[in-house]
Amino acid sequence: MRDIKAYKEKMLAELREKIGSKRVLLALSGGVDCSVCAALLSKAIGKQLTCVYVDHGLMRKNETSEVEAAFADWELDLITVNAEERFLSRLSGVTDPEQKRKIIGEEFIRVFEEESKKLGTIDFLAQGTILSDVIESGKDGKDIVKSHHNVGGLPEYISFREIIEPVRELYKYEVRELGAALGLKDYIVNRKTFPGPGLAIRIIGEITKEKLNILRDADYIFREELEKLEINREISMCFAILTDLKAVGVLDGRRTYGYVAALRAVTTKDYMNAEIAQIPYDVLEKVSGRIISEVDGISRVVYDITSKPPKTIEWE
Ligand code: XMP
Repeated sequence: MRDIKAYKEKMLAELREKIGSKRVLLALSGGVDCSVCAALLSKAIGKQLTCVYVDHGLMRKNETSEVEAAFADWELDLITVNAEERFLSRLSGVTDPEQKRKIIGEEFIRVFEEESKKLGTIDFLAQGTILSDVIESGKDGKDIVKSHHNVGGLPEYISFREIIEPVRELYKYEVRELGAALGLKDYIVNRKTFPGPGLAIRIIGEITKEKLNILRDADYIFREELEKLEINREISMCFAILTDLKAVGVLDGRRTYGYVAALRAVTTKDYMNAEIAQIPYDVLEKVSGRIISEVDGISRVVYDITSKPPKTIEWE
Protein backbone atom coordinates (compact mmCIF):
# COMPACT_ATOMS: atom_id res chain seq x y z
CA MET A 1 0.00 0.00 0.00
CA ARG A 2 1.38 3.37 -1.00
CA ASP A 3 1.41 6.12 1.61
CA ILE A 4 -0.54 8.80 -0.26
CA LYS A 5 0.26 11.62 2.17
CA ALA A 6 3.98 10.92 1.76
CA TYR A 7 3.54 10.71 -2.03
CA LYS A 8 1.78 14.07 -2.01
CA GLU A 9 4.63 15.76 -0.11
CA LYS A 10 7.24 14.12 -2.32
CA MET A 11 5.44 15.25 -5.51
CA LEU A 12 4.93 18.80 -4.25
CA ALA A 13 8.65 19.11 -3.52
CA GLU A 14 9.62 17.55 -6.86
CA LEU A 15 7.23 19.79 -8.82
CA ARG A 16 8.47 22.95 -7.08
CA GLU A 17 12.05 21.97 -7.77
CA LYS A 18 11.47 21.09 -11.41
CA ILE A 19 9.19 23.99 -12.36
CA GLY A 20 10.89 26.76 -10.42
CA SER A 21 9.38 30.05 -11.54
CA LYS A 22 8.21 28.74 -14.94
CA ARG A 23 4.67 28.28 -16.22
CA VAL A 24 2.55 25.17 -16.66
CA LEU A 25 -0.47 24.63 -18.90
CA LEU A 26 -3.08 21.95 -18.26
CA ALA A 27 -6.17 20.94 -20.22
CA LEU A 28 -8.80 20.53 -17.53
CA SER A 29 -11.82 18.42 -18.43
CA GLY A 30 -13.28 18.02 -14.96
CA GLY A 31 -12.36 14.32 -14.88
CA VAL A 32 -10.61 12.93 -11.81
CA ASP A 33 -7.12 12.52 -13.26
CA CYS A 34 -6.60 16.00 -14.64
CA SER A 35 -8.43 17.59 -11.71
CA VAL A 36 -6.06 15.92 -9.26
CA CYS A 37 -3.13 17.12 -11.38
CA ALA A 38 -4.55 20.64 -11.26
CA ALA A 39 -4.93 20.47 -7.46
CA LEU A 40 -1.42 19.14 -7.01
CA LEU A 41 0.10 21.77 -9.29
CA SER A 42 -1.94 24.52 -7.70
CA LYS A 43 -0.59 23.58 -4.26
CA ALA A 44 2.93 23.40 -5.66
CA ILE A 45 3.13 26.51 -7.87
CA GLY A 46 -0.15 28.45 -7.51
CA LYS A 47 -0.77 30.98 -10.26
CA GLN A 48 2.06 29.70 -12.42
CA LEU A 49 -0.53 27.08 -13.41
CA THR A 50 -3.02 27.91 -16.14
CA CYS A 51 -5.87 25.48 -16.71
CA VAL A 52 -7.89 25.64 -19.90
CA TYR A 53 -11.34 24.11 -19.72
CA VAL A 54 -13.02 23.76 -23.11
CA ASP A 55 -16.79 23.61 -22.92
CA HIS A 56 -17.66 21.92 -26.19
CA GLY A 57 -21.37 22.09 -25.49
CA LEU A 58 -21.48 18.31 -25.11
CA MET A 59 -21.17 18.31 -21.33
CA ARG A 60 -23.75 17.00 -18.90
CA LYS A 61 -26.23 19.18 -17.05
CA ASN A 62 -24.50 21.72 -14.74
CA GLU A 63 -21.10 20.20 -15.48
CA THR A 64 -19.26 23.37 -16.45
CA SER A 65 -20.45 25.30 -13.41
CA GLU A 66 -19.56 22.34 -11.18
CA VAL A 67 -16.00 22.29 -12.49
CA GLU A 68 -15.70 26.07 -12.06
CA ALA A 69 -17.09 25.85 -8.54
CA ALA A 70 -14.71 23.03 -7.63
CA PHE A 71 -11.71 25.21 -8.43
CA ALA A 72 -13.07 28.60 -7.39
CA ASP A 73 -11.03 28.62 -4.17
CA TRP A 74 -7.84 27.23 -5.64
CA GLU A 75 -4.86 29.32 -6.50
CA LEU A 76 -4.58 28.86 -10.28
CA ASP A 77 -5.69 30.57 -13.46
CA LEU A 78 -8.73 28.87 -14.90
CA ILE A 79 -9.78 29.83 -18.42
CA THR A 80 -13.18 28.53 -19.50
CA VAL A 81 -13.68 28.59 -23.24
CA ASN A 82 -17.27 28.49 -24.38
CA ALA A 83 -16.90 26.74 -27.72
CA GLU A 84 -20.40 25.28 -27.99
CA GLU A 85 -21.31 27.05 -31.23
CA ARG A 86 -18.07 26.01 -32.92
CA PHE A 87 -18.47 22.36 -32.05
CA LEU A 88 -22.18 22.17 -32.83
CA SER A 89 -21.81 23.85 -36.18
CA ARG A 90 -19.04 21.44 -37.21
CA LEU A 91 -21.11 18.49 -35.97
CA SER A 92 -24.25 19.60 -37.77
CA GLY A 93 -25.59 16.82 -39.99
CA VAL A 94 -22.91 14.34 -38.87
CA THR A 95 -24.24 10.92 -37.87
CA ASP A 96 -21.25 8.58 -38.05
CA PRO A 97 -19.75 7.94 -34.56
CA GLU A 98 -16.14 7.89 -35.69
CA GLN A 99 -16.65 11.06 -37.70
CA LYS A 100 -18.10 12.71 -34.60
CA ARG A 101 -15.05 11.68 -32.58
CA LYS A 102 -12.67 12.92 -35.27
CA ILE A 103 -14.35 16.32 -35.52
CA ILE A 104 -14.45 16.77 -31.76
CA GLY A 105 -10.82 15.75 -31.37
CA GLU A 106 -9.69 18.14 -34.13
CA GLU A 107 -11.76 21.04 -32.91
CA PHE A 108 -10.59 20.50 -29.34
CA ILE A 109 -6.97 20.77 -30.44
CA ARG A 110 -7.74 23.90 -32.45
CA VAL A 111 -9.45 25.65 -29.54
CA PHE A 112 -6.73 24.62 -27.13
CA GLU A 113 -3.99 25.72 -29.51
CA GLU A 114 -5.62 29.13 -29.94
CA GLU A 115 -5.84 29.60 -26.18
CA SER A 116 -2.29 28.50 -25.57
CA LYS A 117 -1.00 30.97 -28.18
CA LYS A 118 -2.67 33.80 -26.27
CA LEU A 119 -0.68 32.82 -23.20
CA GLY A 120 2.75 33.31 -24.72
CA THR A 121 5.65 31.04 -23.82
CA ILE A 122 4.67 27.93 -21.92
CA ASP A 123 7.43 25.80 -20.46
CA PHE A 124 5.53 22.75 -19.32
CA LEU A 125 2.40 20.96 -20.47
CA ALA A 126 0.85 18.89 -17.67
CA GLN A 127 -1.20 15.76 -18.39
CA GLY A 128 -3.27 13.51 -16.15
CA THR A 129 -1.81 10.26 -17.48
CA ILE A 130 -2.29 7.49 -14.91
CA LEU A 131 -0.78 4.03 -14.55
CA SER A 132 -3.51 2.23 -16.51
CA ASP A 133 -2.94 4.58 -19.48
CA VAL A 134 0.73 3.65 -19.41
CA ILE A 135 0.05 -0.09 -19.09
CA GLU A 136 -2.67 -0.13 -21.77
CA SER A 137 -0.35 1.56 -24.21
CA GLY A 138 2.02 -1.40 -24.09
CA LYS A 139 4.92 1.00 -24.54
CA ASP A 140 7.12 2.31 -21.84
CA GLY A 141 5.20 5.44 -21.46
CA LYS A 142 6.30 8.62 -23.19
CA ASP A 143 3.73 10.58 -25.06
CA ILE A 144 0.81 8.17 -24.84
CA VAL A 145 -2.57 8.63 -23.45
CA LYS A 146 -5.33 6.27 -24.56
CA SER A 147 -5.55 6.56 -28.30
CA HIS A 148 -9.16 7.68 -28.21
CA HIS A 149 -8.57 10.23 -25.51
CA ASN A 150 -9.20 13.75 -26.72
CA VAL A 151 -6.22 15.43 -25.13
CA GLY A 152 -3.88 12.67 -26.31
CA GLY A 153 -2.95 14.63 -29.40
CA LEU A 154 -2.13 17.88 -27.66
CA PRO A 155 1.64 17.56 -27.27
CA GLU A 156 2.09 17.50 -31.03
CA TYR A 157 0.35 20.83 -31.44
CA ILE A 158 1.32 22.93 -28.45
CA SER A 159 4.76 24.36 -28.21
CA PHE A 160 6.31 23.67 -24.82
CA ARG A 161 9.56 22.39 -23.34
CA GLU A 162 8.53 19.34 -21.39
CA ILE A 163 5.56 17.21 -20.34
CA ILE A 164 4.75 16.82 -16.67
CA GLU A 165 2.71 13.79 -15.61
CA PRO A 166 2.50 13.94 -11.82
CA VAL A 167 0.09 11.01 -11.34
CA ARG A 168 1.46 8.55 -13.88
CA GLU A 169 2.64 6.14 -11.17
CA LEU A 170 -0.79 5.91 -9.58
CA TYR A 171 -3.77 3.60 -9.96
CA LYS A 172 -7.15 5.24 -10.27
CA TYR A 173 -8.09 4.58 -6.64
CA GLU A 174 -4.81 6.17 -5.55
CA VAL A 175 -5.51 9.22 -7.71
CA ARG A 176 -8.84 9.56 -5.91
CA GLU A 177 -7.11 9.17 -2.54
CA LEU A 178 -4.62 11.84 -3.50
CA GLY A 179 -7.43 14.16 -4.59
CA ALA A 180 -9.10 13.73 -1.21
CA ALA A 181 -5.79 14.32 0.60
CA LEU A 182 -5.36 17.55 -1.35
CA GLY A 183 -8.83 18.70 -0.32
CA LEU A 184 -10.61 18.45 -3.69
CA LYS A 185 -14.38 18.40 -3.47
CA ASP A 186 -16.00 14.98 -3.09
CA TYR A 187 -17.99 15.23 -6.28
CA ILE A 188 -14.78 15.62 -8.25
CA VAL A 189 -12.83 12.96 -6.34
CA ASN A 190 -15.63 10.40 -6.79
CA ARG A 191 -16.54 11.39 -10.30
CA LYS A 192 -17.45 8.56 -12.62
CA THR A 193 -15.79 8.18 -16.00
CA PHE A 194 -17.09 10.42 -18.77
CA PRO A 195 -15.77 10.22 -22.33
CA GLY A 196 -13.98 13.10 -24.03
CA PRO A 197 -16.56 13.42 -26.84
CA GLY A 198 -19.21 13.68 -24.14
CA LEU A 199 -22.88 13.45 -25.04
CA ALA A 200 -22.06 13.40 -28.76
CA ILE A 201 -21.58 9.63 -28.60
CA ARG A 202 -24.73 9.18 -26.52
CA ILE A 203 -27.05 10.75 -29.06
CA ILE A 204 -27.65 8.30 -31.86
CA GLY A 205 -27.59 10.11 -35.17
CA GLU A 206 -27.43 13.85 -35.65
CA ILE A 207 -26.64 16.09 -32.70
CA THR A 208 -28.81 19.13 -32.14
CA LYS A 209 -29.14 21.54 -29.23
CA GLU A 210 -32.66 20.32 -28.63
CA LYS A 211 -31.57 16.68 -28.39
CA LEU A 212 -28.68 17.63 -26.13
CA ASN A 213 -31.04 19.36 -23.72
CA ILE A 214 -33.45 16.43 -23.69
CA LEU A 215 -30.60 14.01 -23.00
CA ARG A 216 -29.09 16.24 -20.30
CA ASP A 217 -32.35 16.33 -18.36
CA ALA A 218 -32.93 12.58 -18.57
CA ASP A 219 -29.33 11.78 -17.69
CA TYR A 220 -29.43 14.11 -14.69
CA ILE A 221 -32.54 12.44 -13.27
CA PHE A 222 -30.99 8.97 -13.62
CA ARG A 223 -27.78 9.99 -11.87
CA GLU A 224 -29.65 11.93 -9.20
CA GLU A 225 -31.73 8.88 -8.26
CA LEU A 226 -28.70 6.56 -8.24
CA GLU A 227 -26.81 8.88 -5.94
CA LYS A 228 -29.34 8.09 -3.23
CA LEU A 229 -28.40 4.39 -3.33
CA GLU A 230 -25.65 2.37 -1.68
CA ILE A 231 -25.08 0.52 -4.99
CA ASN A 232 -24.01 3.80 -6.61
CA ARG A 233 -20.54 3.40 -5.08
CA GLU A 234 -19.96 0.20 -7.04
CA ILE A 235 -21.20 1.63 -10.32
CA SER A 236 -18.38 2.74 -12.61
CA MET A 237 -20.49 4.52 -15.18
CA CYS A 238 -24.17 5.42 -15.42
CA PHE A 239 -25.77 7.50 -18.09
CA ALA A 240 -28.68 7.98 -20.44
CA ILE A 241 -28.62 7.59 -24.21
CA LEU A 242 -30.98 9.29 -26.65
CA THR A 243 -31.84 6.86 -29.42
CA ASP A 244 -33.10 7.99 -32.81
CA LEU A 245 -36.18 5.86 -32.41
CA LYS A 246 -39.54 7.41 -31.65
CA ALA A 247 -42.46 5.72 -29.97
CA VAL A 248 -46.04 6.44 -29.08
CA GLY A 249 -47.06 7.09 -25.51
CA VAL A 250 -49.88 8.57 -23.46
CA LEU A 251 -49.48 11.37 -20.96
CA ASP A 252 -52.37 13.01 -19.10
CA GLY A 253 -54.86 11.46 -21.48
CA ARG A 254 -53.04 12.79 -24.53
CA ARG A 255 -51.19 10.86 -27.20
CA THR A 256 -47.49 11.64 -27.24
CA TYR A 257 -44.81 10.77 -29.74
CA GLY A 258 -41.27 11.13 -28.52
CA TYR A 259 -37.81 9.60 -28.36
CA VAL A 260 -36.93 6.30 -26.76
CA ALA A 261 -34.24 6.93 -24.15
CA ALA A 262 -32.03 4.16 -22.82
CA LEU A 263 -30.34 3.96 -19.44
CA ARG A 264 -26.99 2.26 -18.99
CA ALA A 265 -25.14 1.52 -15.77
CA VAL A 266 -22.11 -0.74 -15.54
CA THR A 267 -19.51 -1.93 -13.10
CA THR A 268 -16.01 -2.52 -14.35
CA LYS A 269 -12.44 -2.63 -13.15
CA ASP A 270 -10.58 -2.08 -16.39
CA TYR A 271 -13.22 -0.90 -18.91
CA MET A 272 -12.28 -3.86 -21.12
CA ASN A 273 -14.94 -5.97 -19.42
CA ALA A 274 -18.09 -4.57 -17.89
CA GLU A 275 -21.11 -6.06 -16.17
CA ILE A 276 -24.51 -4.43 -16.01
CA ALA A 277 -25.32 -2.88 -12.65
CA GLN A 278 -28.04 -4.70 -10.71
CA ILE A 279 -30.24 -1.70 -10.10
CA PRO A 280 -33.45 -2.59 -8.25
CA TYR A 281 -36.57 -2.55 -10.46
CA ASP A 282 -38.38 -0.08 -8.24
CA VAL A 283 -35.56 2.42 -8.75
CA LEU A 284 -35.63 1.92 -12.53
CA GLU A 285 -39.38 2.39 -12.43
CA LYS A 286 -39.05 5.60 -10.47
CA VAL A 287 -36.39 6.97 -12.84
CA SER A 288 -38.51 6.07 -15.86
CA GLY A 289 -41.59 7.71 -14.30
CA ARG A 290 -39.68 10.89 -13.54
CA ILE A 291 -38.13 11.08 -17.01
CA ILE A 292 -41.48 10.59 -18.73
CA SER A 293 -43.22 13.22 -16.66
CA GLU A 294 -40.38 15.75 -16.31
CA VAL A 295 -38.62 15.60 -19.67
CA ASP A 296 -40.45 16.84 -22.71
CA GLY A 297 -39.60 14.82 -25.82
CA ILE A 298 -39.10 11.34 -24.33
CA SER A 299 -41.96 8.89 -24.50
CA ARG A 300 -40.33 5.64 -23.44
CA VAL A 301 -37.40 4.51 -21.28
CA VAL A 302 -35.55 1.20 -21.53
CA TYR A 303 -32.69 -0.28 -19.49
CA ASP A 304 -29.70 -1.67 -21.37
CA ILE A 305 -28.86 -5.20 -20.16
CA THR A 306 -25.87 -5.81 -22.43
CA SER A 307 -22.49 -6.63 -20.97
CA LYS A 308 -19.05 -5.98 -22.43
CA PRO A 309 -17.86 -8.02 -24.24
CA PRO A 310 -19.50 -8.65 -26.64
CA LYS A 311 -20.67 -5.03 -26.76
CA THR A 312 -19.12 -1.73 -25.76
CA ILE A 313 -20.10 0.49 -22.86
CA GLU A 314 -20.95 3.49 -25.03
CA TRP A 315 -23.60 3.10 -27.69
CA GLU A 316 -21.58 4.82 -30.40
P1 XMP B 1 -16.34 1.47 -24.72
O1 XMP B 1 -17.58 2.14 -25.23
O2 XMP B 1 -15.23 1.40 -25.74
O3 XMP B 1 -15.81 2.40 -23.55
O4 XMP B 1 -16.62 0.12 -24.10
C1 XMP B 1 -14.73 2.11 -22.70
C2 XMP B 1 -14.41 3.39 -21.95
O5 XMP B 1 -13.87 4.35 -22.85
C3 XMP B 1 -14.69 5.52 -22.88
N1 XMP B 1 -14.72 6.01 -24.26
C4 XMP B 1 -14.10 7.13 -24.67
N2 XMP B 1 -13.37 8.03 -23.98
N3 XMP B 1 -13.05 9.25 -25.98
C5 XMP B 1 -12.86 9.11 -24.64
O6 XMP B 1 -12.21 9.96 -24.02
C6 XMP B 1 -13.77 8.39 -26.73
O7 XMP B 1 -13.92 8.55 -27.93
C7 XMP B 1 -14.33 7.26 -26.03
N4 XMP B 1 -15.09 6.20 -26.44
C8 XMP B 1 -15.31 5.44 -25.33
C9 XMP B 1 -16.03 5.08 -22.37
O8 XMP B 1 -16.77 6.16 -21.86
C10 XMP B 1 -15.63 4.06 -21.33
O9 XMP B 1 -15.23 4.70 -20.15
